[in-house]
Amino acid sequence: MSKRTRPIYLDYAASTPADPRVIVRMLEYLGPGSVFANPGSATHALGRAAREAVEAARHEVAALIGARDREVIFTSGATESNNLALSGLARARRERGRHLVSSQIEHSSVLDTLRSLEADGFEVTYVPCDRNGCVDPEEIRRALRSDTLLCSVMHVNNETGVIQDVASIGSICRERGIVFHVDAVQSAGKLPIDLAALPVDLMSFSGHKIYGPKGIGALYLRNDPELVLEPIIHGGGQERGLRAGTLATHQIVGLGEAFRIARLEGATDACRIQGMRDGLWARLRTLSGVELNGASVPRVCGLLSLTFTGVGGESLLFFLGDLALAQGSACASARGEPSHVLKALGRSDAEAEATLRISLGRFTTEDEIESAAQAIAEAYGQMLEVAPRKGGRMGSRTV
Ligand SMILES: Cc1ncc(COP(=O)(O)O)c(C=O)c1O
Repeated sequence: MSKRTRPIYLDYAASTPADPRVIVRMLEYLGPGSVFANPGSATHALGRAAREAVEAARHEVAALIGARDREVIFTSGATESNNLALSGLARARRERGRHLVSSQIEHSSVLDTLRSLEADGFEVTYVPCDRNGCVDPEEIRRALRSDTLLCSVMHVNNETGVIQDVASIGSICRERGIVFHVDAVQSAGKLPIDLAALPVDLMSFSGHKIYGPKGIGALYLRNDPELVLEPIIHGGGQERGLRAGTLATHQIVGLGEAFRIARLEGATDACRIQGMRDGLWARLRTLSGVELNGASVPRVCGLLSLTFTGVGGESLLFFLGDLALAQGSACASARGEPSHVLKALGRSDAEAEATLRISLGRFTTEDEIESAAQAIAEAYGQMLEVAPRKGGRMGSRTV
């Protein structure tokens, strides 16, 4: 493959570029001459205009997910939303119980928050998944106890793209009066979400996975006077006292525009992206030794998690220098450990290392997919020639 000036970007699950329409809107709220004022400054017109823009964005976020405007709280991203949902709920209800339920395949922003709660005296049951990466709602039912406060299960897994049955899990929790939180970072804008019908109490979102800016996210908190969170950031009482700090108007407006575009174009985008993803898999599945994780269960449109048996993922990535893709997951690889998600699927350390996540998005083209398919087939073929498959790895090192 010829050297490109920029790699082909196939890491949309790690971050998406902001849509150019989002950037245009954000610039209206940043510089001198723009509506840059503090949305909390009700004493002048500029402040009030900024507040209007924030509320319009809140409406757009709510509209995509079937929520009411006042159920949307702006945060700095999904990591904060997950922290606020889990810590906030557990600490607000600590007198009522101290047990929480989640799955083994959650994002680190959920797992690490749960670990910090464990250190603080809470008990957590981590439900496993099957070999396809699915969490069985009946396993969740079995894990619930009379002192369970909250259950948290993600909508779409960020490493495999596998869609979890959050409707069934939510119904089980609702029957038992247990609060249900869903991390919807990888599903928002790709799958329909209707919180007017879904039995979900808390849901987390991120801007930079939906063609909005980084550093902004939202938490849905169902409108119910019983559903109280203890804030984790204290200060000026913004966001109904749940998330203090001057509202970042340009980020919030960008998030709103990203959600608006997703509402209007998400379904069409998803269809096109799924077509390209399936085309890529149709090409790669002809290579012997390549396995698709979650092959037989519903998966989100733009993601392939592929295990290349017999080679090291690091070496494969090296040969694929013209492609920007992830080994396992960007978040897990920063730790230098084999992915906890792939391990939960039953993959060995070597297999987890030899797994690449290819994720497509709104700006992916057919040409890019064609070049990527060729590059991957060539690189894998060459590596297998040098190191005929013995189940071992070639020059692999953990990042
Ligand atoms: C499933 C999931 N949850 C949470 C996050 C964290 O989101 P943010 O980067 O907005 O903090 C990510 C990001 O990779 C994710 O994939």
